[in-house]
Amino acid sequence: MAYSTAGPVVAIVPAAGRGVRLGESAPKAFVPINGVPMVRLAVEGLLAAGVVDEVVVVVPPEHVQSSAELLPEGIRILEGGPERIDSVRAGIAAAPEAGIYLVHDAARALTPPALIARIVTELRAGRAAVIPALEVADTIKSVDLLGGVTATLNRSELRAVQTPQGFDGELLRRAYASVTDGTDITDDAGLVERVGARVRAIPGDPLAFKITTPHDLTVAAALHAAQAGKTG
Ligand code: CTP
Ligand code: MG
Repeated sequence: MAYSTAGPVVAIVPAAGRGVRLGESAPKAFVPINGVPMVRLAVEGLLAAGVVDEVVVVVPPEHVQSSAELLPEGIRILEGGPERIDSVRAGIAAAPEAGIYLVHDAARALTPPALIARIVTELRAGRAAVIPALEVADTIKSVDLLGGVTATLNRSELRAVQTPQGFDGELLRRAYASVTDGTDITDDAGLVERVGARVRAIPGDPLAFKITTPHDLTVAAALHAAQAGKTG
């Protein structure tokens, strides 16, 4: 199928999670890295990429009002839902005109703008679904509930996937319209795979890692401080 990608590039930023694994009192996207909330860093990265026409940020209900002060002007702010999939669905519904969607976790606050631009370049070249992915360094095994190893997976075929994940607008709308359960789906490309579209993985970037645990937050603060030192 040929994809047109006519229409604006809309970035949807799911930022409505609670951050249970991080364990801070604020929802994760509002936890600061060296004083700047993660969601603001993620949005600034998208804007700096120079390829996004509109940004829709999806936040917990109690943060809808306060987010306007945290974010640059012109950003749309919506209320999210209980699961990530619900939050992304709200973002899609608010921007049905998109020719391209980029879905980008607020928790990947240090994602380089160049990676964001590369995803859009691939979509403009005619790909329908493009995701950043890294080779895995560890050997990955599957285990049963008791920790018994059931298989050793072939590492050369495995990738750890990141965001932004980019999609032809019509394809992502169709993929979300097709969801009836969705509880086992942990990324947007997973839904697109289920409707039979081909997803292309391109090399990701270590800086696009997801800040999930207190360890990740410490690493992110150190990397962010080092970057700030370089750019003055
Ligand atoms: N997210 C969302 N709506 C939800 C759940 C998650 O918008 N109902 C967002 C998060 O804010 C985050 C991204 O999806 O930017 C990836 O999710 P994750 O890293 O799991 O964040 P949390 O759900 O906040 O963390 P945890 O699972 O530890 O509670
Ligand atoms: Mg979560």
